[in-house]
Amino acid sequence: MSLFAALRLPREILFGIGQRHALAKVASRTGRRALVCTDARFAATPVFAEMIAAVEAAGIAVLVHDQTLPDVPRDTVAVCVEAARGFEPDMVIGIGGGSCLDMAKCASLLLAHGGALDDYYGEFKVPAPVLPVIAVPTTAGTGSEVTPVAVVSDPDRILKVGISSPYLIAAAAICDPELTLSCPPALTAVAGADALTHAIEAFTAMRRPGDPQLAQQHVFIGKSDLSDQFALHAIRLLSRSLEKAFTDGSDIDARADVMMGALAAGCAFGTAGTAAAHAVQYPVGAVTHTPHGLGVATMLPYVMTYNRKVAAAEIAIVGRALGLDPTGVESDETLADAAIGEVSRLFAAIGIAPTLARLGLPEDRIDWAAEQALGIGRLIKNNPRPLDPAAMRGLVRAAYDGDLAASAL
Ligand SMILES: NC(=O)c1ccc[n+]([C@@H]2O[C@H](COP(=O)([O-])OP(=O)(O)OC[C@H]3O[C@@H](n4cnc5c(N)ncnc54)[C@H](O)[C@@H]3O)[C@@H](O)[C@H]2O)c1
Ligand SMILES: [Fe+2]
Repeated sequence: MSLFAALRLPREILFGIGQRHALAKVASRTGRRALVCTDARFAATPVFAEMIAAVEAAGIAVLVHDQTLPDVPRDTVAVCVEAARGFEPDMVIGIGGGSCLDMAKCASLLLAHGGALDDYYGEFKVPAPVLPVIAVPTTAGTGSEVTPVAVVSDPDRILKVGISSPYLIAAAAICDPELTLSCPPALTAVAGADALTHAIEAFTAMRRPGDPQLAQQHVFIGKSDLSDQFALHAIRLLSRSLEKAFTDGSDIDARADVMMGALAAGCAFGTAGTAAAHAVQYPVGAVTHTPHGLGVATMLPYVMTYNRKVAAAEIAIVGRALGLDPTGVESDETLADAAIGEVSRLFAAIGIAPTLARLGLPEDRIDWAAEQALGIGRLIKNNPRPLDPAAMRGLVRAAYDGDLAASAL
């Protein structure tokens, strides 16, 4: 197959210990008036005060919105935008977990184009550039600092919704592993597991012919040569250090690996997209109120097992990136099985629930969850092995029961 790739990224990505001190310089190249979206936790820290003081010292007027809530409830965006409109910001700085970064993206969208958030749900609905966003993550997981999507919760809809547009990609991402040192183990685990799921789903996503219209008609286009490089880099780093960062949160080298892993995974799935594990998490998360990263990670080994029939070669490569020794292994199928086993082992070691039953999904919602998941077309179309209603019900049932073999279907 001839080489094909598409990649959409911020025009500047800064990564490393202490890089948060570059924020003021980056901001002063971006504009003069900054709306800063964060949450009450981070706004109360001396690190935040220091970052804002540096931005102000660079001559930039700052308005802080520190009311971001987890999962970005729809109407909280309108509140933020109303408060900021009179200030007339010319850039938005998001500092915090994925929720703060998504809040910054949504605020920059509404400040630039007006209207209501639900005008933009779906793909390619954003008509033109938004205010430039500078994204500074404090968790290592979502990759939102580099992706073209913002996820919000809408009280009128059961499932969370996404706004996907290349215009939502931040202008600059500043990733400083020191900002993740304060993450408690459970947050480190679910955020890092989300990142590993992004990387593996991006690497095993559908491969499509390199039609020139592909990236013009779809935000998420499936795997390609460049997204693959980022995905494998992410898998290597996360397998090397996620467990270490979970066990010893003060291990800055492990924190840096995990943050780079999350960033690289974001660079991969921001163009390649994710697939069935993410689709099933949407309804499961809606019913169980469990974190996004937990649900996708619970599903991942089952989805890999389902996909093994058509993607054994790719899953075997994932196995190598996970550090498995292929010497003496006879077939891709055998190495793929070992890779799935290693993902399950790692997730168990960091406290990821092994079944949907343990996540709290009621048994009588299995068919409903399967039906809802199948309705998320942008994720389902990206899964390498097609899913029909019976297959999806079987997959969700297998993940509920903890029956890995049954998920091969
Ligand atoms: N846009 C994307 O590309 C993308 C991708 C995946 C997930 N998401 C979304 O991101 C959100 C999840 O983001 P998240 O997992 O980063 O969590 P989060 O932003 O929802 O934050 C969860 C909690 O962790 C706290 N927290 C954040 N950083 C911390 C730190 N350094 N120390 C201590 N506590 C800290 C927050 O204050 C909050 O209470 C979900 O809404 C999910 O749907 C978006
Ligand atoms: Fe995710």
